[in-house]
Amino acid sequence: MESQEIRERFLKFFQDRGHKIVSSSSLIPADPSVLLTTAGMQQFKPYFTGEKDPIKDFGAKNTVSIQKSFRTSDIDEVGDDSHLTFFEMLGNFSFGGYFKEEAIKYAHEFIAKEMGLAIDYVSVFDPSMDSGQEGFGRVVPADTESEEIWKSLGITNIKKFGRKDNFWGPTGIEGPCGPTTEIYVNGVEIWNIVFNEYYCKTRTDADLTRNNAEIKSELIPLKVSGVDTGMGLERLAVAVQRKKNIFETDLFEPIISQLPNDFEEKKKRIITDHIRGAVFLIADGVRPSNKESGYVLRRLMRRVMVYGQKVDLRSLILVIVDLYGGFYKELDKSLILEVFDKENSQFSRALTRGMKELEKLSTVDAHSAFKLYESYGLPYEVIKDKSPNLSREDFDAEFQKHQEISRAGAEKKFGGHGITEGDLTASNAAEMEIKTRLHTATHLLNAALHKVLGDKVEQRGSDITAERTRFDFVFDRKLTPEEISKVEDLVNEAIKKDYPVIIQKMPLEEAKKSGALFFYQGNYPEEVKVYSINSFSRELCGGPHVKSTGEIGRFRIVKEESSSTGIRRIRAVVE
Ligand code: SER
Repeated sequence: MESQEIRERFLKFFQDRGHKIVSSSSLIPADPSVLLTTAGMQQFKPYFTGEKDPIKDFGAKNTVSIQKSFRTSDIDEVGDDSHLTFFEMLGNFSFGGYFKEEAIKYAHEFIAKEMGLAIDYVSVFDPSMDSGQEGFGRVVPADTESEEIWKSLGITNIKKFGRKDNFWGPTGIEGPCGPTTEIYVNGVEIWNIVFNEYYCKTRTDADLTRNNAEIKSELIPLKVSGVDTGMGLERLAVAVQRKKNIFETDLFEPIISQLPNDFEEKKKRIITDHIRGAVFLIADGVRPSNKESGYVLRRLMRRVMVYGQKVDLRSLILVIVDLYGGFYKELDKSLILEVFDKENSQFSRALTRGMKELEKLSTVDAHSAFKLYESYGLPYEVIKDKSPNLSREDFDAEFQKHQEISRAGAEKKFGGHGITEGDLTASNAAEMEIKTRLHTATHLLNAALHKVLGDKVEQRGSDITAERTRFDFVFDRKLTPEEISKVEDLVNEAIKKDYPVIIQKMPLEEAKKSGALFFYQGNYPEEVKVYSINSFSRELCGGPHVKSTGEIGRFRIVKEESSSTGIRRIRAVVE
């Protein structure tokens, strides 16, 4: 059975059972608290919470969709048999129409009868599998009801798991959540059925997060229980088409088979996943940049460009558009190629310069490899191709050494004078207090500049004294008076809202993936802190910052001038 038939059968199956077919929403979500669309339920959130009426909007309490989804959290797993960044999620939903009994019966019938697959086992929620229910704020009982329903259908291999495996809720943000029951075929989880009984309220208490305590959730029962299910089309296709992995299915085979035979399998899979993901992101309006979803796209594209230097990537894009364009009408060939060509020519200039330097070297040790990386952005993988003796460990060690040197330099510079807290040094507490306010204001300024001037803006440096903050950034012309007051207004609005400043610790790679702004020439440790101010600003930083933006006072730009070619300089004060 071809994938297109699976898609059609899924939609028809649920349509015949009273569900309204709803089109996939964009990969760029309407909800600004999330970077990209990661699940089918996202567009239905207001129907679960009761803010919107499904009868009014869909003429039914039940819907079915095939949702374009993208999970940055899986980026490092790509290359194995089942993980992807972009995937298609089949899902049926109910907002008070039906609950556990029908949801489980539908899923069973679809898998066993429509798809002709044998279920290995299913899992249900059981809190006794956890050591405790810390952070839930309420006791969620074991889901014996689902267990009984499965048994009545003849499924007796039922596993019980706790919160980590069988309770679904959005991570880091608020939303509907509840216990799940999951279906396993050939040892792989293929269908996740969520019973939304609660609203998960994330506590963003500033003190709690400043102490790096886990962000805890409070579960509030929803007025009406709902059903949210999600099944990856790719994994289902593996089972239905009796393949060993997703790349052998008809969703990928036409793409991966274009790649040279002598490429390592993992490399082929990464190119295939990333270029497919990039095509869909571009089609939904994401453009390569240095922040948020633009940065995710840039990472995908550049990795493909590095790995696929000997590959005709443009024709690979055309293969993808042909393969998916029938179902996804938004895939516009010429637009996608245009965005690809632009990024490719920008990146290949840096790549060529670095390659020239690399050719000049007779041997490449970890030190010179790091220099090439630092000066030209030449990725490790490319250097490694030319220098088989280079090892990832030595390269990483060099990276580490470099960071220690710059840290030691900073300590020497400030050593012993005054108080040092995170990134700031002051001669007394009062000075620290004003510098801290200016420091948070600088984050707001950085974010506001991105919002007003676009993604060309890139931080080049900043300096904070007790009198003012000075901020340098890449931009190719003088700012107009309107732009300056727009930036000021945005910052002052954020101050007025008195947003809490939230701090989270995470690995550097994860922080970059999360879309946080960071200073490209900065040297960051492996574990970094990300400071978030509502959805307004998100930035990697050593602190310190004010607890909430209200403490900053009024923000004013006093000067905007050129600092050097292509670099602007802003001086601003808080009053
Ligand atoms: N929201 C659940 C998931 O993403 C089911 O759709 O797995």
